[in-house]
Amino acid sequence: MREANPGAIYLKDYSAPAFLINRTELHFELGEEETLVHARLHLLRSPEHAGQAPLELQGQNLELVSVGVDFDELSPDQYRVDEDSLVIDKVPEQFVLKTTTRIRPQDNTSLEGLYKSSGMFCTQCEAEGFRKITYYLDRPDVMAVFTVTITADPARYPVLLSNGNLLDDKILADGRREVLWHDPFPKPCYLFALVAGDLQYVEDTFTTMSGREVSLNLYVEEKDLPKCDHAMDSLKRSMRWDEEVYGRMYDLDIFNIVAVDDFNMGAMENKSLNIFNTSCVLCHPDTTTDAGYQRVEAIVAHEYFHNWSGNRVTCRDWFQLSLKEGFTVFRDAEFSSDMGSRTVKRVEDVSVLRTAQFAEDAGPMAHPVRPESYIEINNFYTLTVYEKGAEVVRMIHTLLGPELFRAGSDLYFRRHDGQAVTCEDFVRAMEDASGCDLGQFRRWYSQAGTPELRVFDEYDEDARTYTLHVSQSCPATPGQASKEPFVIPLAVGLLGDAGNLRLQVAGEEPDYETDDNTHRVLVVDQAEQSFVFTDVGEHPIPSLLRGFSAPVKLDYPYSRGQLCELMSRDDDGFVRWDSAQSLARRVIEEVQQQLAAGQAARVDVLLAQACERLLGDSSLEPAMVAEMLTLPSENYLAEQAKEGEADVELISRARAAVKAAVGEACAGLFLQRYEELAITEPYAASGEQIGQRALRNLCLDYLACANSDYLALARDQFGAADNITDRLAALRALAFYGAESDWSKPLQRFLEDWRGETLAINQWFTVQALMSDSGAVERVRELMQHPAFDPRNPNKVRALVGAFCAQNPRQFHREDGAGYRLLGEVVESLNHSNPQLASRMLTPLTRWRRYRGRAELMRAELERLAALPDLSPDVYELVSKSL
Ligand code: TRP
Ligand code: ZN
Repeated sequence: MREANPGAIYLKDYSAPAFLINRTELHFELGEEETLVHARLHLLRSPEHAGQAPLELQGQNLELVSVGVDFDELSPDQYRVDEDSLVIDKVPEQFVLKTTTRIRPQDNTSLEGLYKSSGMFCTQCEAEGFRKITYYLDRPDVMAVFTVTITADPARYPVLLSNGNLLDDKILADGRREVLWHDPFPKPCYLFALVAGDLQYVEDTFTTMSGREVSLNLYVEEKDLPKCDHAMDSLKRSMRWDEEVYGRMYDLDIFNIVAVDDFNMGAMENKSLNIFNTSCVLCHPDTTTDAGYQRVEAIVAHEYFHNWSGNRVTCRDWFQLSLKEGFTVFRDAEFSSDMGSRTVKRVEDVSVLRTAQFAEDAGPMAHPVRPESYIEINNFYTLTVYEKGAEVVRMIHTLLGPELFRAGSDLYFRRHDGQAVTCEDFVRAMEDASGCDLGQFRRWYSQAGTPELRVFDEYDEDARTYTLHVSQSCPATPGQASKEPFVIPLAVGLLGDAGNLRLQVAGEEPDYETDDNTHRVLVVDQAEQSFVFTDVGEHPIPSLLRGFSAPVKLDYPYSRGQLCELMSRDDDGFVRWDSAQSLARRVIEEVQQQLAAGQAARVDVLLAQACERLLGDSSLEPAMVAEMLTLPSENYLAEQAKEGEADVELISRARAAVKAAVGEACAGLFLQRYEELAITEPYAASGEQIGQRALRNLCLDYLACANSDYLALARDQFGAADNITDRLAALRALAFYGAESDWSKPLQRFLEDWRGETLAINQWFTVQALMSDSGAVERVRELMQHPAFDPRNPNKVRALVGAFCAQNPRQFHREDGAGYRLLGEVVESLNHSNPQLASRMLTPLTRWRRYRGRAELMRAELERLAALPDLSPDVYELVSKSL
């Protein structure tokens, strides 16, 4: 914590390191009172760096016990230590720096550096946590070969792990155990990891395409051993997929995963020693929802894929974070698409992007995929860097096509193996391998904000031509008043009376080679542009932005009838879903206007008719029908409103009215589908069962919303469910649509049945956080005092407070500001214990400009936080940028 306001760091100030580290030897003496870290860093002046710059190492919350250069201990006049650095003015060209530092992992609540979780030692070093372990050149472009010795009490810590291979394992004369790990691949310190604990493991093997047998181990607490299968299977599928799709093989004989309870994020890709939040690796039908199973598969894959996109080729500096994260998210999304339904996966991802990333792009923290400055790098692990970054890679894939993209990734990995590089290097490899010019495309990395595409069309019956007129613009974002045009791949089709038309773009050679001529990617690269299709015999309905081919907002003046046509007949699954969303959104917005004018809601029957058709459409997989029937979320609807005009209460009432009306109008069919979709086989997290449950529980949701008589279905389902997905769906129906007499006993019952299952209890917290009755704030406060709650555990804070603030907009934005005050207090207390979590929790408050009638109250809470005496850089950055 600092006195003065922390300053910003700029990309333009980047300079190569003055010193390099060839070898890093660490020795940890783990103890209950204190932990000693002995470091021997084999340093040398960088040959590229002229001059005699002093050696400056980063370090935080460290007690320096001793420091020496080669064989000499330094005296206090030979070095300077302050809050976050160790400086030695005079050092040789090449030398060994020896330090000993004392740390107290048991008191480290920030969950960065070396800390304790449920009795075990573990580390989290990305982005700048290593400096909380020892003095170091804590930057990703300093790469060293690590050798790690760990000494610990073998009774308490029978498992001692670090990166790479185990070289030695012995019991010392004093009874302590000592192990030696060596990682042959040079790596930045953010990929260092250490684990010591009383853990059990499941083991398996994987044989690479070159015949290497890799030992796979998943370490967990003993009680969690039955929850490991799904992650292990996911790991093996990921390893195979990366060989098949990217030609990437695993490069060591051992790959370990460790599950820890207290973790700030999902998981971490430390070289050969991935560390996972238990919520992102453990799976059991009693504790993990269907969505949870899919999340685990995706995150296991994500971390595994980092071994190439992140570890073998890493980032030069943290401004390049999307180099590894955007690319790896794209890779894991493609993996998930190949493992399950491509369209459903795409729809889920686009939903998140349009709701949350678009909001980020429109808010005070908007930043480019490659940011230009930051105060605290932890604040830039954002949806923009991850999800929009993945969209940027996806667009390159779309523009180049799969073969040239693969040639580009091959070149990238070959050219930069073992290096710390930039987003520019990635784009250049794609260009060099494909021959495509991505010059203007690079603006996706440097310009923030969500581009808006306006499209209108013109049909000339006599000339048989159809023209799409396209214009693009992008709103101003902090520090970027005006933008240059982006390169936007616009995938299109044209829907005629008898299906999608064959396409011929004027001025292009007809394509006789492929038989699918109904799909085209138009490249929009100017502010205004027109595309002419020739030989068009009827006025078609344009099917635009197919597959969500670019992260933009699209505006085309569809009629409701046209949306219905696209929704039921277009060839593109994404467009079908998107049309359903647009139709629902129009109907909800119409009801908002009615309610605002004091009228009763009159819900357009077109929507219910469309729903009936979807429910009976056997050409669609159930998972897809469920996605199409899910109304746009309150958050998405608020994001659609103009700045300052989002009326949360109106949105919430209108959406509920529409849902109830549709539920009532289609009750017969919902009920029929609910019954047909019942699963009699035992639970499996298969795509087929997951889709069936999703649609069935959606039917239940509509029915319960429409008429409380249907709560009887929920009661039965709650009693009969053999898995948490169905159990929770029933509990939610009771809690959201029932009276206290409907939900109080089931909630109590759930708690009693699953008391010992942390991950299930977290879901129990979330259900109660999402109940939208007027007592929600008070209930959340009460639950924060519940014995099962723990303010130090990020999963719990997110499950209760995070869910309430981010997903219960109606009660978070309560008129009296009680929701804002609750969040403010939570942030204030986390500001000391876990600043990273504090600033993540704060995000909903930073969007105060969006909301009608709430801006003053929200701002007041931010002002109160801004005035606190010792804000962490994390919270300071968000507060100061949003005020
Ligand atoms: N590199 C991790 C991933 O995306 C992200 C991560 C895990 C992280 N833990 C963190 C980032 C802590 C910052 C701080 O796979
Ligand atoms: Zn990642």
